[in-house]
Order: sequence, then structure tokens, then C-alpha cells
Amino acid sequence: MSVKQECKEPRLGLPNLGFGVGLRTQHLPDILSEGARVDWFEIISENFMEHSGYTSNVVDRLSEDIPIVMHGVSLSIGSESPLNRDYLDKLKKLARRVNAVWISDHLCWTGLGSHNSHDLLPLPLNEESLKHVTQRVQEVQEILERPLIIENPSSYVQFRSSTMTEWEFITELVEATQCGLLLDVNNVYVSAHNHRFDAEHYIRSIPHNHVVQIHLAGPAYCGEYMIDTHDAPVPARVWELYSLAQELTGGVSTLLEWDAQIPDYPELLAELDKARRLMSSGVVPEAPVPEPIISDEQHTVLSTPIDFQLTHISNEAHSIADSGNK
Ligand SMILES: [Fe+2]
Repeated sequence: MSVKQECKEPRLGLPNLGFGVGLRTQHLPDILSEGARVDWFEIISENFMEHSGYTSNVVDRLSEDIPIVMHGVSLSIGSESPLNRDYLDKLKKLARRVNAVWISDHLCWTGLGSHNSHDLLPLPLNEESLKHVTQRVQEVQEILERPLIIENPSSYVQFRSSTMTEWEFITELVEATQCGLLLDVNNVYVSAHNHRFDAEHYIRSIPHNHVVQIHLAGPAYCGEYMIDTHDAPVPARVWELYSLAQELTGGVSTLLEWDAQIPDYPELLAELDKARRLMSSGVVPEAPVPEPIISDEQHTVLSTPIDFQLTHISNEAHSIADSGNK
């Protein structure tokens, strides 16, 4: 039995683009010589805002033949700092240039004032932060003149000042702003492991008629923590969550992310084909169950250096929470 591929309800007027991958520089020679062999590409917005160089020209050329979606990491929608109008203007110009089908970013904050953490930091989830993020999403949508597509982040710490779950926060945010959702099922898997919640319950609880896109990726399992490294094949449990999400949404655009230890393009396409086969057959592919990385030698080769920050972040979060509780 196949998983339904047609949206039950229109999603903000945005189409199901099919199956795509994140466009990475090392794959360009293969793509230019052999063709894209995917339905669409997602580009990292910040890499193409300044229109210069070979890669930028290639993206412009590709955008004439294949749908492009923009995915950002610097919007910092949860920050207390004012929205960066210069950044938003550049985002809008890039969207026009590559005819972006939609623009997404994360439910997070990345810095404060002039300090950039270069990481996607979690928010306290409560009425105050919800009101703050809601106002900023509305403002961004007015500036961009289109719905913003918000992605659920992976996280490693939680705030004691949180009064709602992430799925409750997202539901309220969507209802208030009518923004879209980018459901990263790997991020749900990672955060569910780290915070000990039920990933299936999360996916069943979000507003499915606002999910525009799904992200797939492979994390690293470090024992106590699951780390969102995007450096491995999609694990078995993430495929199960993907299947559930596609069933509940009625079928939306699928994007495979792979950002470190990036395989050759044919290997990347083979991983994406697993999603195609799942959607046509309903059968969840055989995939690895992550083994914990425990030796010091392995630990040092993690592609996302969040592991050495965990103690620091955790201590900082606890000390903030402790001082707030006094
Ligand atoms: Fe993602």
C-alpha cells in the first residue's frame, strides 16, 4: 500500500515538489554533466545572497530549469535583537533572483546584539516567547510578502521557564501567523531522544495542514545525547517517522540534508530514492540503527562540534534557570 502523495488540503498555495536534496558545491560537476536527477533543490540562503562567483552563476542557471527553495540559518526569529532589515532585503532579492518557491528558517535564535553564536539555539517555550516570535514572524511575512516556513529545531537543553511543549508552541504559532511548517523528522527524533519525549506523539500533534516540507537526515548517537550532524544515512526510526508524517500530511515535499562527510552525488541520490520507494510501496526501508559513539578517538571526529559545547551550554542554562528560580 502506498503512502498518499496528494495533499488533502492546499498548504498556503504551495505545491508538493516531490523529492529533492540540499545543493552542495562538491556535487556541481556531476549535476552539470549528468543532470540534476532530483525534482528540486534547497539552497542555503546565506551562501548566495552576494551574487558573485561561479557557484552563484550555476544556481541562477539551475533555477531556470528546476524549482529552488531557500533555507536560511541567520533569521534568528527568536532573538531579542531587532530584525535585520538588511538581511531580509537580501533574502527578498535572492528569492526574486532564483524564483524561490518558498523561504524557510528555524525556530531558534542565533545571537544577541553583535554576538553571533553560529548555532541554532533553543527558545524558552512560554506565552512571552510565543508572543515575541508571533510578532516577528508576522513582521517577516509582511516584509517578504509571502508565508515564512518555520522548521522545528534539534535541541540539547531545555529551559525551566518553558510552560509548553514544542508541538504546542508550534501549533499556537501557526494558528496566530498562518506561517508554514518545515517538519524535520530527524530533528524530532534527535530532540525526542535528548528530552525523552515521544516522537510519534509530536508528529501526531502538530497542525498537518501547515506542513509544506519534510527534512530527512542522519544524526550521530553519542549515548546520552543524539547530535544533529547530518553526516550519515537516515536511520531506521527516522524513516518510520517520515512514513507517519507523510501519511498524516497527505504527502508533502521531501528534502534530504547531508552536510558533513558528504557522499558522492550518486550515493546521495540512492539515499533519496529510499524515500521515493517508501512513498510508492509503503514499505519502510532497511536502514542502520545508530550505534553509540563512545571512544575518545571517535568522539573527536564528530562533524558538528556541538559535543564540546554541551557541558558549557548545559551549565550556562542551569545557572540561568537557577538564578531565575531564586
Ligand atoms: Fe533540517
